[in-house]
Amino acid sequence: MNETALTVQQTARPTGFPTAGHFRFVESALPAPAPGELLVENLYWSVDPYHREMMDGAFALNAPLEGRTIGRVLESRAPGIAAGELVFHRAGWRTHSAVAAEQVRVLPQFEGVPLSAHLGILGGTGLTAYVGLTRIARLKEGQDVFVSAAAGGVGTATGRLARLLGARRLVGSAGSADKVKYLTEEVGYDAAFDYHDGPAAALLSEVAPDGIDLFVDNVGGEQLGAAVGALRQYGRIVRIGTIGQYNKPTLTPVPLDLSQIVEKSLRMEGFLVSDYRSVQDELYAFAVPHLRSGRIRSDETVVDGFGRIVEAFLGMMRGENTGKIIVRG
Ligand SMILES: NC(=O)c1ccc[n+]([C@@H]2O[C@H](COP(=O)([O-])OP(=O)(O)OC[C@H]3O[C@@H](n4cnc5c(N)ncnc54)[C@H](OP(=O)(O)O)[C@@H]3O)[C@@H](O)[C@H]2O)c1
Repeated sequence: MNETALTVQQTARPTGFPTAGHFRFVESALPAPAPGELLVENLYWSVDPYHREMMDGAFALNAPLEGRTIGRVLESRAPGIAAGELVFHRAGWRTHSAVAAEQVRVLPQFEGVPLSAHLGILGGTGLTAYVGLTRIARLKEGQDVFVSAAAGGVGTATGRLARLLGARRLVGSAGSADKVKYLTEEVGYDAAFDYHDGPAAALLSEVAPDGIDLFVDNVGGEQLGAAVGALRQYGRIVRIGTIGQYNKPTLTPVPLDLSQIVEKSLRMEGFLVSDYRSVQDELYAFAVPHLRSGRIRSDETVVDGFGRIVEAFLGMMRGENTGKIIVRG
């Protein structure tokens, strides 16, 4: 066992795109679990777009950060959870965490399914996609779906789950030709475009000439405006995230034709996955058999080494990931 722990701290507030200089690694003795707590050696870390939002204020400076993490219990001072158990918790961005037993979830083991999937398609990422499709969009068989940031964690999970839920034409946008190819050849999208290649409305009408019923939006901005134009009568917009603006110091106006919201009776609804944790078991029941049969998989970019966690986070915001970005210790 390592005798020391490493923790990442944020040292300054960024304006615009953050750099490695906004973080530091701090070495300390292993944390000692208090009664009711567990000492967890962390194995996999999630770095997420919402961490960028937290860097503007919710993350305290020069203090441990939070993040979704999978680890193994090294020492338990809590009844009901034994050393050796694999657990999920949120005291991430550090190699070792002392966490209260109520704040961990012992992970179910699904034979044939990699542990990292609990941060990907079976974790908050997949749950976001599943809730977006089933609770917010209320996807019906035969509907046509457009997904922005389609090659990321939420976007790939949305594509795979939408297909299983009966979507008809599935189109997506992403930031490179390689990602476009990945979407159509690996994930099951019918067509996709690189949003750098021209005005979003024109690119969307090429891949969805007959329009769309649902827009699952991870980005906002120009693509949201384009989707409003492409949506059919009674269409729905599921607002999942706004990665297009997290690194911009000022908000840019969205080119949105508001009259179309009325004329086409459109509905736009946002949500936070944290309000839908009760749907977790339903996601397992739905997705695990398909993961086991190989019909779907958890799309992941794995970065090896806790020492590269900041690099992985910054790279994710630059679009270097395909599928969910995960750091492996
Ligand atoms: N509502 C919720 O509870 C909830 C939960 C989880 C995630 N989210 C949101 O869902 C979205 C996706 O999250 P994720 O974890 O799956 O991340 P992700 O999509 O795996 O990674 C972020 C991706 O965003 C794209 N991107 C970066 N800057 C962009 C820009 N200016 N315009 C368009 N695309 C850009 C990059 O891909 P490209 O190469 O394609 O540019 C990058 O790979 C985020 O907006 C996040 O905040 C919301």
